[in-house]
Amino acid sequence: MEQFFLKDKIVLVTGASSGIGEQVALSVAEAGGVVVLSGRNKERLVLVYNKLQGSNHKMILADITKKDELAFLVDQLPELSGVVHSAGVAAYMPTKFIRQTDIDNLFDINFNAPVLLTTRLLKKKKIKKPGSIVFMSSIASKNTYFGGAMYSSSKSALETYSRVLALELASKKIRSNCLLPTFVKTPMVHYAEKTISSESMENFERISPLGFGEPLDVANATVFLLSDAAKWITGTNIPMGGG
Ligand SMILES: NC(=O)c1ccc[n+]([C@@H]2O[C@H](COP(=O)([O-])OP(=O)(O)OC[C@H]3O[C@@H](n4cnc5c(N)ncnc54)[C@H](OP(=O)(O)O)[C@@H]3O)[C@@H](O)[C@H]2O)c1
Repeated sequence: MEQFFLKDKIVLVTGASSGIGEQVALSVAEAGGVVVLSGRNKERLVLVYNKLQGSNHKMILADITKKDELAFLVDQLPELSGVVHSAGVAAYMPTKFIRQTDIDNLFDINFNAPVLLTTRLLKKKKIKKPGSIVFMSSIASKNTYFGGAMYSSSKSALETYSRVLALELASKKIRSNCLLPTFVKTPMVHYAEKTISSESMENFERISPLGFGEPLDVANATVFLLSDAAKWITGTNIPMGGG
């Protein structure tokens, strides 16, 4: 069973100050890994850092949509065995209201940041062999919904990018996979509940055969994908919650 643990693995987790990223950081540490937590909110990041099991964890504050902060983050990193791209935002906007600034803001964090972070990590040789990269996509890329054009599109783009990445990095024994959760109870969803009608939320729950999830459900799958137990799995987009 040793291959399911993360002993001797150092894992960068973006979006570690909240929700899924927070739980991924806690679970990676619990599985024996060393975590580099990244996020923007210092207070919440410190709270997560203080809850981590084990030692040698590190915390780096960065807004990864900003070129200089992304570069600073990468420069501070040790060699990694894993990267979890959890930082992201949701957006609910009917298509006729979409403006250029809305596209820029959403794609900057949901697509450009994970892609450019990956580019820099590879250029600076910060990912070891064997390595594993996990992207937080969303079932929203498959199940469309009113107002979800930009969010769904950003996640679809990420999934396609990840599949190409998987192909290009296979010979280097670096894997790339996406998780596609349905709704997970995090601050992102609490915010969504304020902007989405209860009727739509009920509809979402109906089309999620296993119902809404907990951050731990996503963290467990992430730990698996980071582990050597998943060494034959790459280029996948895995629905969670029943698809
Ligand atoms: N919750 C769901 O139902 C659900 C379902 C499917 C997929 N997902 C995906 O899972 C990921 C995590 O979602 P969540 O529910 O955990 O959301 P969350 O609780 O709102 O957390 C979002 C995280 O992203 C970070 N972040 C946002 N903008 C950033 C930026 N410019 N630079 C650096 N960090 C930034 C935040 O950092 P700070 O707070 O420090 O600013 C926070 O740690 C997202 O990619 C989301 O699309 C979520």
